Amino acid sequence: MSVVISSDNRKVTTHRLIEMKQRGEKISMLTAYDYSMAKLIDQAGVDVILVGDSASNVMVGNVTTLPITLDQMIYHGKSVTNAVKRALVVVDLPFGTYQGNSKEALASAIRVMKEANAEAVKLEGGAEIRESVERILSAGIPVMGHLGLTPQSINKFGTYTVRAKEEAEANKLIEDAHLLQELGCFGIVLEKIPAALGAWVASELYIPMIGIGGGNGVDGQVLVMHDMLGITQGFSPRFLRRYANLHEDITNAVSAYVTDVKRGDFPNDKEQY
Ligand code: KIV
Repeated sequence: MSVVISSDNRKVTTHRLIEMKQRGEKISMLTAYDYSMAKLIDQAGVDVILVGDSASNVMVGNVTTLPITLDQMIYHGKSVTNAVKRALVVVDLPFGTYQGNSKEALASAIRVMKEANAEAVKLEGGAEIRESVERILSAGIPVMGHLGLTPQSINKFGTYTVRAKEEAEANKLIEDAHLLQELGCFGIVLEKIPAALGAWVASELYIPMIGIGGGNGVDGQVLVMHDMLGITQGFSPRFLRRYANLHEDITNAVSAYVTDVKRGDFPNDKEQY
């Protein structure tokens, strides 16, 4: 297998993502929710930064993504876009801001673009949200889709298990992916589906498929930053690879600091005026 890694420092755009797919360069995507981490991961070369509504879990401590509000997503989005120079910044539209009414969906997307300085929005679902996707795209706002395990529908699914294992659900996912491409979406996140299905959809569509538990045959990968850095605990799905153990590093650093303060070892002579 030949590996395509470009050292291209130009700003990543939705068009460039499609070019990357065409030349077989895999796309790297990570979530971020604040200025300092967004700056770090942008400088480390990630292609797409997603201000995910997983902020509801990792930033706010909610059990699901449902409670996070549009104002909160805009706050996180602005914090990220203030930092990012190269990556494409995509902001999730949160639950309840686009599903029922396409005019409301457009109003939500416009707020995210104007107030958070986002470059694209991500919405969960296929045919059910067709009108919302169309209306947002008609205003010139790039849209990313999200199919498979869509966490905003967790109350309908009742479980975070792998989706589209059965033929009917797999066929619906394939139809939805084609529909989103025809409408004009620039890419789709495929979450927690069989690898063979992910590879099949990626081979059929010209827009990039970005997997999270979507196998290795898709066009790129996305992970939640707190999971891949090992900050979150007690969450170990098969698709998650941990690249650091910041939970341990931060705990050790903080307890060393507490000990130094308690002992009167900090600050020392050189650390004071
Ligand atoms: O909100 C999020 O972090 C996401 C990723 C899981 C793709 O949508």
